[in-house]
Amino acid sequence: MKAENILEVKNLRVKFPIHGGLFLKKVAEVKAVDGVSLELKRGETLGLVGESGCGKSTIGKAIINILKFSSPDVEIEGEVWLRTDKGEVDLLKLDRGQMREYRGMIQMIFQDPYSSLNSRMSVGQIIEEPMLYHTNKSKAERMEKVAWLMEKVGLQAEQSKRYPHEFSGGQRQRIGIARSLATDPKIIVADEPVSALDVSIQAQVINLLQELQEEFDLSLLFVAHDLSVVEHISSRIAVMYLGNLVEIGNGIDIYHNPIHPYSKALLSAVPLPNPNKVKKERIILKGDVPSPINKPSGCAFRTRCPIAKAECAASIPPLELKKENHFAACPYVSYDTIITESIENKA
Ligand SMILES: Nc1ncnc2c1ncn2[C@@H]1O[C@H](COP(=O)(O)OP(=O)(O)OP(=O)(O)O)[C@@H](O)[C@H]1O
Ligand code: SF4
Ligand SMILES: [Mg+2]
Repeated sequence: MKAENILEVKNLRVKFPIHGGLFLKKVAEVKAVDGVSLELKRGETLGLVGESGCGKSTIGKAIINILKFSSPDVEIEGEVWLRTDKGEVDLLKLDRGQMREYRGMIQMIFQDPYSSLNSRMSVGQIIEEPMLYHTNKSKAERMEKVAWLMEKVGLQAEQSKRYPHEFSGGQRQRIGIARSLATDPKIIVADEPVSALDVSIQAQVINLLQELQEEFDLSLLFVAHDLSVVEHISSRIAVMYLGNLVEIGNGIDIYHNPIHPYSKALLSAVPLPNPNKVKKERIILKGDVPSPINKPSGCAFRTRCPIAKAECAASIPPLELKKENHFAACPYVSYDTIITESIENKA
């Protein structure tokens, strides 16, 4: 592992088999993640964006290594290296028991604060629970930490006896954040933590995450389907399409000067002024994302790409360095390429 990294994902492939027929044989497979490599540096926030179904949550679940326990017939290849005090470890090689030792180091915050908190437990019990499994703290120490964490996320310690239904969506997400911090993690995978919340409170929760990230020197993988959500918080942004990373670079570069045709289209859908461009063309993508069961050969974006060529069907284009720290998976674009043509005008 590189010295600055806390996590390295190498060539991750995740396939979910689909069974059918009388004998429930494997008839097809969902290529949810199709060869993804990414690095998370210590103390950075990496934004991971892409449309619904492109494999973002699957990457998150592979990182916390819960896929093979939640979907026993899943096929996983690749490596997920974590830097620990005792050295580097490939989490994907660990079984459930071995994983317990590291689970406290990586925590996940989920999208839906309504279903992700156990409604039968009090808020205090919800926040305390990870400490029961992953720390040796005494009851008194755990209670003290629950109160401290509640204050940290902007709730009152006296509210710990209440139940999740007594809180608003934004407050519930704060409870989820407090729970995720209970084991002093080094990495947090935040899987669309604000997309279920009212727009008016999204910024508060994002700001809270950013403050906590700085205070605790956390490394954050922040998943979203909208570039504007990750722009403020991410040092780097990775863009995903149908199981592959198509672009990765510094947040400011991806946001103001995306290179890959898909990232350009994603950005052009963001209704914000783009000061670095004289004229911002709106690229309208035709059709929906194809199913990962019938993923197009070669560059998976070719069925919607405004500049697709016959050659694009041949092989999956690798990420190429286009500018310092800025990679895009398309051989036909450079930093200066301007795509003005909408795919709908092409016909
Ligand atoms: N347990 C599973 N069994 C079968 N298919 C699955 C399973 N989990 C995910 N998939 C499929 O894998 C693909 C990627 O799913 P994933 O949840 O990772 O996408 P996502 O990018 O997080 O989408 P969203 O933005 O909607 O959360 C989808 O086609 C999904 O239907
Ligand atoms: S490789 Fe081809 S289809 Fe893919 S983004 Fe580049 S031009 Fe478009
Ligand atoms: Mg998801």
